[in-house]
Amino acid sequence: MKISPSLLAADFLNLGREIEKINASEADYLHLDVMDGVFVPNISFGFPVLQGVAKVCRKPLDVHMMTVEPEKWIGHVRDLGARIMNVHQEACLHLYSTVQHIHEAGMLAGVTLNPATPVETLTDIIQDVDLVLIMSVEPGFGGQPFIRHTLEKVRRLKALRDASGSKAMIELDGGVNAKTGSELAEAGADILVAGSYVFGAPDINEAIRSLQRL
Ligand code: DX5
Ligand code: ZN
Repeated sequence: MKISPSLLAADFLNLGREIEKINASEADYLHLDVMDGVFVPNISFGFPVLQGVAKVCRKPLDVHMMTVEPEKWIGHVRDLGARIMNVHQEACLHLYSTVQHIHEAGMLAGVTLNPATPVETLTDIIQDVDLVLIMSVEPGFGGQPFIRHTLEKVRRLKALRDASGSKAMIELDGGVNAKTGSELAEAGADILVAGSYVFGAPDINEAIRSLQRL
């Protein structure tokens, strides 16, 4: 299992130190949650902060855009040197073009689904994406309880992906801990995002390793 710790749960007063902990850990990615206060009812951090983060972080960046019109930010995300750019299906009127533009910018394209958006909406684009990010909480806030129906969605997405011949990775975001992580692993997840479970742990690397072993 690959693990993408979410910086949203880090200590923002000591961001440099928190990123050094991630650099020193076995994390596979660093997950960055960008919010605009419009697509979600919260604001996290913007590109001036992310540019500083990108300079010191040695893990591949997994950027999760929770904004309207995420296509406007493709150049900014590329300039961070990000590996993955995730855009919400609900925020993209022309999802196919947005996915192509992310690819043209040299990044892996991820499509994100809110809890109430069915995985079947991806039937006609699953072959063009590198990753599907399923939200297991409503986007916008860390520390929320896992929505259990997500397990069923992961199974259906895996079946859809395998039937189409797509190689898209399945990533999960929200309420991940040792218990829900192990259920998600069984359902077919490839990558787990974890915020509070990792940054709230006494030993960040041990928390990451315990999820990687699932
Ligand atoms: C929520 C964010 C998540 C968040 C997860 O909108 O997309 O990445 O940081 O936090 P936890 O793991 O605490 O649920
Ligand atoms: Zn996220």
